[in-house]
Amino acid sequence: MALTEPSVAVRNPYSVLPNWSYPAFVVGALSLFGVFAFWVVFLQPAGYFEPYVSPFDSPLIKVGPIPPGIWVAWAPLAFRLTCYYYRKAYFRSFFWHPRSCAVAEPRRGRYRGETAFPWIFNNFHRFAFYATFVQVLFLWYDAIVAFNFGGHFGIGFGSVLMLANVLLLSGYTFGCHALRHLAGGELDCFSCSAAARARFHLWKGVTVLNVRHDRWAWASLASVAAIDIYIRLLMAGALNDPRWMA
Ligand code: FES
Repeated sequence: MALTEPSVAVRNPYSVLPNWSYPAFVVGALSLFGVFAFWVVFLQPAGYFEPYVSPFDSPLIKVGPIPPGIWVAWAPLAFRLTCYYYRKAYFRSFFWHPRSCAVAEPRRGRYRGETAFPWIFNNFHRFAFYATFVQVLFLWYDAIVAFNFGGHFGIGFGSVLMLANVLLLSGYTFGCHALRHLAGGELDCFSCSAAARARFHLWKGVTVLNVRHDRWAWASLASVAAIDIYIRLLMAGALNDPRWMA
């Protein structure tokens, strides 16, 4: 049976929003974030206001005039570009490929899926996970240091933002489908050995985060932008960091 293109007025019966709202949101949010990330990494100094470090620049690597973000930003960029959820979101929203389940798509032409350049790189998601995992460890270190004010424990508004950001990023990173497969994939029996049981528990933990992977993805994207903007406003002297016990 041939698939037919629904009228743009057709609504998803499970949502009160019109069916164009989701792709419009994805295109708008990802385009905005892409432009912002480019501006931060290539055109701005490192985001640092003691004791806060922007996630775009952590760990802070200074080599001559090269912007520190260049050494860092490729990992989360590759991670998000190859993420299973984002792939679905941008294929549907930017390319209408397909626009939704059971909806006809534009001519496929010579498209060969993820078996040919450039989409074949999506198969390297697991390696992007390894790199991002290391960066999240640095961000946890930064979040702890964000409570250290000249050798004394303190709490600033920035400390709270730094902690919230790394929690959201961890929820996104450790709910990754590739990690879920690493934890519990290719196991025929979950209870046959201590190692298998440990992997089962890990798999269950990853699954808890994986269920809402899309929400973690958007929330962590927003928090990365928010903490970077906050640090740059502090650097510019446009804000004072509210502090308690510091
Ligand atoms: Fe989304 Fe791995 S599937 S981060």
